[in-house]
This record gives sequence, structure tokens and C-alpha cells, in this order.
Amino acid sequence: MNFSHWINHFRNNQNYRPEPAWESPSTLRKQLSPRQFAMLVRSLQQFQLGDGGGPAYLIARDRAGVLSGSGSIKVLVDLWFKEEEEHSRLLGCALRRLGAPEIQSHWSFSLFCGLRKWLGVQFELYALLLTEIVSHQYYKLLRRHCDDVAIRAMCDLINRDEAGHIAFHRARLTSEGIRHRRHYGWLWELQFRLRGLAAGTVLWVNHRGALIGMGATDREFYRAIWRGMGRFIAGLRADLAWERASRRLIRQGDQAQSEGDEPGSVPRGACEGKT
Ligand SMILES: [Fe+2]
Ligand SMILES: [Fe+2]
Repeated sequence: MNFSHWINHFRNNQNYRPEPAWESPSTLRKQLSPRQFAMLVRSLQQFQLGDGGGPAYLIARDRAGVLSGSGSIKVLVDLWFKEEEEHSRLLGCALRRLGAPEIQSHWSFSLFCGLRKWLGVQFELYALLLTEIVSHQYYKLLRRHCDDVAIRAMCDLINRDEAGHIAFHRARLTSEGIRHRRHYGWLWELQFRLRGLAAGTVLWVNHRGALIGMGATDREFYRAIWRGMGRFIAGLRADLAWERASRRLIRQGDQAQSEGDEPGSVPRGACEGKT
């Protein structure tokens, strides 16, 4: 994994972040019925808690195994979760704009944290990846259907970060694929998609009311997460194929060079320019 590339990515991503116009007039209370407005508030409250609120870090009991791993992985994990904390801050501002408080706990987040803690860091990373893919689609739908300039600007910032997080996971899995000779074939794709649909359904159960109230549909959400997973799988396989091909070329180049350097052989180019 190219650690310096990802460290630069996260550091550069801290620049050019225009703050949403939180003080601009909001007409959401007039546009939505009291019930729809309350569902939007509940949805934002849960995301504020779950998306970087609470323990915004790896919490699996065996996380030290990953954090003490090769390269600058801990630096990357720190930078990744720093962006998640920023999402929580932005969502807190959105709640204040709507005149709503933040919440301190929710059963779905407590259950999610419990599973992450006890099922280990590999499960946690997998669960976080699926959560990022499905919540990326949530923010896209919120961006599309919520007629509020500040919330849309917030979604733009979060979606920019989440696209980077998903690409970071892809790079991580590509690197694991090379190390452990994984191919991410159809059986892997099947279980990945099933788990993604399960993660998406858990999200949709809690947030459906808010998005449907603003005009989204079930079909739109499930199509979006299906496509999001498809893009991730295709990108992962392409990255893995590219990485394997480039390593093969380097090996072939090294081999050709060492054969050319064998005792008694004439190095390529040695006679160039001689008469
Ligand atoms: Fe996030
Ligand atoms: Fe994220």
C-alpha cells in the first residue's frame, strides 16, 4: 500500500472546505409536515452520533494488531477518523440550524459498537467499509432531496470525504489481496453484496422515513447501494489486476537484467558507440 499517497490525500483534503451557510434562512419547517421534519431531525441526530460521534476510532479489542502493523497505518487510521469527527461536527451544526439537540445514545449505534468491539478488527474494518458505502448513498439522496442550501453543502463535503474513505478501503483490500493471493471472485462478491444489502437495510429501517418524506423512494435507495457496491467491486478487481501486472513486469525486468549481468555475458549497450 502506498502510505505516502494516502497521507497526502488526507492532508490535502483538509484544504478548501467551505463552511456551509448555517446562518442562511431555512424553509424546511414550512416545506415539510411536522412529522416529516421530526423524522429528518431524528435521522440527522443518529448520523451525528454514528458518523464520527461516540468513539470515533477503531474500537475492536484486538485493534492493536492492525495499528502496530506495517508502514504508517496508524497515521492513516488517525487521519481517517479525524474526517469522521468532522462529519459529526457538521451534522451537529445542521441540527442546531434546525433547532434540534444532539443525542448521546441510540440502540442501533450501541449494537454496532458492541459487535465491532467483540467480533474483532477484521470484522470492524469490513463493517465500516460496508457502512461507508451505504451511508455515502444516504448522503447522496439527502443532497438530492433535501431543499436546504446548508444541508446540501454539508452533504457535498461529507460525500467528498466518503469517496476518499471508500477508495482508501479499496487500496487496503488490494494490498491484502496481493499479500494473501486473494482474487475477490464471484463467491466473495456474493457474500459482499449480501452483507452490503443487510447493512443498507439496517440503515434504511432507521432513516427511510426522513428520505421518503422528502421524495426519495425504496427503489432509488436500493439501486444506489447496489451500484455503489458494484463500483467498489469492479474498482477493487481492476486495482488488483493492475498491481499484479505491474509487479510481474518489474519481476521480468529484474530477471532480464540479472541474466544480462551473468559472468561472461556482454551487458546490453556495452558495445554501443564502439567501432
Ligand atoms: Fe463519515
Ligand atoms: Fe467515512
